[in-house]
Parts: sequence; C-alpha cells; structure tokens
Amino acid sequence: MSDDLDAGARRPTLAPDGPQASSPVTCLSLARPDDWHVHLRDGAMLAAVVADTARRFARAIVMPNLDPPVRTVGQALAYRARILKALPAGARFEPLMTLYLTEAMRPEEIVRAKAAGVVHAVKYYPAGATTHAALGVRDLRPCYPVLAAMERLDLPLLLHGEVTDPAVDVFDREAVFLERHLLPLMRAFPGLRMVLEHITTRAAVEFVSAGPDTLAATITAHHLLLDRNALFVGGLRPHHYCLPLLKRAEHRGALVAAATRGHPRFFLGTDSAPHPRHAKESPCGCAGIYTAHAALELYAEVFEGAHALDRLEGFASQYGPDFYRLPRNQDRVTLIKEPWQVPPTIAAGADVLVPLRAGEAVAWRLAD
Ligand code: NCD
Ligand code: ZN
Ligand code: ZN
Repeated sequence: MSDDLDAGARRPTLAPDGPQASSPVTCLSLARPDDWHVHLRDGAMLAAVVADTARRFARAIVMPNLDPPVRTVGQALAYRARILKALPAGARFEPLMTLYLTEAMRPEEIVRAKAAGVVHAVKYYPAGATTHAALGVRDLRPCYPVLAAMERLDLPLLLHGEVTDPAVDVFDREAVFLERHLLPLMRAFPGLRMVLEHITTRAAVEFVSAGPDTLAATITAHHLLLDRNALFVGGLRPHHYCLPLLKRAEHRGALVAAATRGHPRFFLGTDSAPHPRHAKESPCGCAGIYTAHAALELYAEVFEGAHALDRLEGFASQYGPDFYRLPRNQDRVTLIKEPWQVPPTIAAGADVLVPLRAGEAVAWRLAD
C-alpha cells in the first residue's frame, strides 16, 4: 500500500460514536504527559495561563520568545523563577527552559547552560518568521561555533522550520526550509539532536520519518484538528491564525497518521500561544492559538477519531521524555468522555484571550 493510501485510510472521521466504536472507551488513564512546546509569556499573561498547562502537564519546554527574548542562562533562571512564582499553590510543574539563538551568542553560553541543568534546549527562529522573532537568525554561519558546542555537549536544537524568503509562498515555507536549511544543518552537525517544531506538512512528516534518530518533531493539537479552511469558515477567523499556517486537509491527514502510528520521534507539543484578543482581532493580527485550557482533551479527540486512543500515551507521555533523555512521569491522569463547554474568553490581566473552541464543546474532560 502506498503512503498516500495509508494516510487516507487513517484520516480521522472525528465521529466519536461511529459504527466502528463497538465498545467505546469512556475513561482513559495515562502517565502524566508533558508539553514539549509551549509559550507561557510573562507578567499578567503568564499568571493567566500557567495553571492551564500545569494542570495537565508535569513539565513543559518553555519557549524563549519574550520581548526581549531569553538569551542567557541568567535570564532563563530569572524567567524560571517567575514561572514558579505564578503557579497556583500546591501545583507541581517543572518548566524546562530554553535559550533563544542569536548570531551574537557565544559557545560559552552553551557551556553555562549545560552546567546550570535547567536549560534543556536552544531555539532557532529565522529572523522575522513569527512572534518576537525580530532578533532571530538571519544567517546560520555565525552560529556554527554555538551549534558545535551544542553537538559536543548534547543540548538539542529546536527549530521554527520556515524560510522567510518573501519569494516563497507562505504555505510552502516549511517544505522549502527542509531542503534549504535543515538538510545542510544535519550534514554539518550529524550528532546534534534537533526537534522540528509544530510540523504542518506531509513533506515534514516524510522528512522526519526518513531522518536519523537525532531528528524528532512536535505536532500541535490545532494542526491535527483543523485544516486551512478553518481560517475562512463564514468569514475571516483570526483565532485560527498561527504559524506555520494551517495547511490543506491532506497534510492534516498525514500529521494525524504520524501522530497516531506510534512512531517514537513524533510527540506532543501544543505550541499554545496566547495573545490578548485585541492583538488577534486587529488589521494586522498576531499569529498564535491558545490551546492550553484543553490541550490533552483535544489530542484525545484526534486519537479517538483515528481509532488510536491506545497510542495517545506514547505520543503524549513517553516519546518526548525519551528523546529529551528525561525520566517518564510516574503519576497518572484520567480523561473522561464527557463533553464540556469552553468559555468564550479567558481573563488575562486587563485583557482577555480567546481560546480554541471558544463557546463550543470539547468531547473529553480531564478528571480532577
Ligand atoms: C508563536 C507565538 O505567538 O509566540 N506563534 C505561533 O503562531 N505559533 C510563535 C511560534 O511558535 O512560531
Ligand atoms: Zn514557531
Ligand atoms: Zn511556538
């Protein structure tokens, strides 16, 4: 069977009580998951969102694209302390910190990062590619000494994998990045472990599947649930705007197949990216979708739709820690098949944010 047919056959119907569900699962217990890609922001927004992540996940890779970005170990330690302080009383949650790669970063920072123990990766943003990426990398060459230090000390590189070349169509920017930047990077640093973040295309699925054990990918809930039509249903939908953009239905099918097939180099990363409502509902709106309020529950919908609920635990709770060489979590969480209504907005200081599925139902609920 060709890859195409296989992916087509696995495309989820999202019909939870379809004819195949002879004895539908209504309760699911799994090892507590981790989120391998989240934006927790800072200040009032951090205070508003961190509990959603901490309720579901034991740990999360916290993205460093603050304004200004987290570029030193000292800044990462201070940010980590602010996150811990913002947690609700009694919450047990470990933020896994990252540094924001710039052309000015020195290899000594990598040595310090490794020694500090709380920095788990360095994040590469192509300059201008996404939210707060103005200080990102224009040219990777000046970063080679830093990348060599990361390879030597085994600190993973996380990639926002899109070219910024205005001549490349925005829907093609991930696919072009693979050949133009990722392949040369892998050749130059064969021992460097890399995570291609928030993948959105069949090309990325195939590239990572065919790649070495040093290459993994995270997949968001929204790219598993939505295709690009969701940007225009009944009008322009700014709350479905994220980067990389949602793609065609066939790409969503390939992502669902990759996530649900039990492949250890595809794992959960929500890319939950809150923005105040006014920054999204604007003539020049920000990219980012907030999913932390229902993250695991939304993934459960996808896995159920693909008749693969038995593979959710690997994707959500096992392959990520294995890749990052961290222990798997020992405690467990329970999901119950019981629909609940997402609120239309979530308060964030003086602002509000609009979560995914605002005012609509989510099929699974996390037990307390
Ligand atoms: C992210 C953000 O808002 O920080 N936005 C997004 O659309 N994914 C940045 C990112 O992950 O690229
Ligand atoms: Zn990104
Ligand atoms: Zn992100």
